[in-house]
Amino acid sequence: MATLTINHQDAPVRDGATLFDCAEAIDIRVPTSCIKQGKCRECLLEIEEGISHLSPPTPEEAHLGEGFRLACRTRIVSEGVVRCHTMRRGAMRIVDDAFGLAELTVEPRSGHGLALDIGTTTIAMRLYELDTGKLVSTQSFENPQRFGGSDIMARILYDTEHKGKLLQRTLLGYLRQAIEVLPVPPESILDVVVAANTTMRDLFFGLDVYSIGQRPYRSTHEASLTMAAKKLRLPLHPDAEVYGLPIIGSHVGADAAACLIATGLHERDSVSVLMDIGTNTELIVGNRDRLIVASCPAGPAFEGGGVLCGMPALDGAIERVTLNGSGKPKTRVVGDVKPQGICGSGLVDLMSELLRTDRMNAQGRFLEELELEGFELADGITFTERDVNELAQAKGANIAGFQILRDIYGLELDDIDRFYLAGGFARHIDLDAARRIGFLPDLPDEKILRVGNAALAGASQLLLSPSLRRTVETLVQSIEHIELETHPDFFDFFVDGCQFMPVRR
Ligand code: FES
Repeated sequence: MATLTINHQDAPVRDGATLFDCAEAIDIRVPTSCIKQGKCRECLLEIEEGISHLSPPTPEEAHLGEGFRLACRTRIVSEGVVRCHTMRRGAMRIVDDAFGLAELTVEPRSGHGLALDIGTTTIAMRLYELDTGKLVSTQSFENPQRFGGSDIMARILYDTEHKGKLLQRTLLGYLRQAIEVLPVPPESILDVVVAANTTMRDLFFGLDVYSIGQRPYRSTHEASLTMAAKKLRLPLHPDAEVYGLPIIGSHVGADAAACLIATGLHERDSVSVLMDIGTNTELIVGNRDRLIVASCPAGPAFEGGGVLCGMPALDGAIERVTLNGSGKPKTRVVGDVKPQGICGSGLVDLMSELLRTDRMNAQGRFLEELELEGFELADGITFTERDVNELAQAKGANIAGFQILRDIYGLELDDIDRFYLAGGFARHIDLDAARRIGFLPDLPDEKILRVGNAALAGASQLLLSPSLRRTVETLVQSIEHIELETHPDFFDFFVDGCQFMPVRR
């Protein structure tokens, strides 16, 4: 007998039924705008287990990488266990009232508005009342473009090599579905503000992204842009518009511009640092007189990509780890369900605990007895030296970026007044653990502000206060963009940053 699980729910398997039909039978909505005709390519599923029990891929699925199928083109053809999911949701982890950010001001208008942060890995949205500034609802879900690769360069390559703007179409299909389940009529939504890294912004608006993948890594349109929602086929008010923030420069995108607005660091005399950790980490250093920025291609390791047992911070992710005297792990799991993997904050904890208990050294090597098998964290969840290596490189890229900007700005650690740590998962990391492994510089607690999704907060401010859009458009023109790879000490900083030890100088 074949058994099928979709989004952790058991679904009945009928002869000849597609996975789309099976999902419908248990009321799981799969995105579609062609109603199962194999044309829209929106009905994407990720197959977690049992791919060999499925019908062979059809020509309509030729664009998909391994592990992804179109629900309307796929049937179960042999007995066994099949597990799959549509986009995974993470609504529980979005922070609504990020501490340490500028106040929201409201220029009252009627209707509703949406603020969006389109990350390489995760998409987050907030729905507001435009006349009061009241937050009505939040949602977050995986970026469904994962079938085109997990990092920015892979997506650029995918978009360049495949015709038909498939990444844009898939994203818009999922977004349409997310809009339809909002607790207000979609026609009441009049305004949308989008923060995103350079590539995600341009893919969203349907621009050609080829040039972002080639030196000097520039978008064809770095200024802000506004497009009618109906051109993007978003089911909103007929006159609704979508505003994309300007790009600061190269890979330092509209999300970094939104972070600036959210933190207000460009308005202060004292010098702040902002590190927005994601698949691509953005760094901003400065004050009202001078701002410099850089992007670090850290990769998706801390968001669960490239780490065997890694996963985003969704239900089932281990988010906290401590080891007792005999090395037995105690864990906390998002959603209090059976653990399925480990997310970024859990990874920081785990490496810190392995280091603290001498099970791992500063070079990321395990004790001899763990070397071969790895460290078993829970049933079926094992952490290996190879995973440590991925994380070391991600951490190394971030710290190298930080050290180079600090060097260029002429800053000692003590000169830093505030260190904003932004990014969905950064909100949840343990500061002691992060400092111990050198994930963060060794600054006192009171200087480190974990501000959560600052890009989304910035997009929200521009949504509620449209006059700020001119401010950000002017501001981005005065910011210096630094190309990290051209700094003579980049490699040394990177190698140092890969070590698991505190960053004190
Ligand atoms: S529903 Fe459109 S391609 Fe499957």
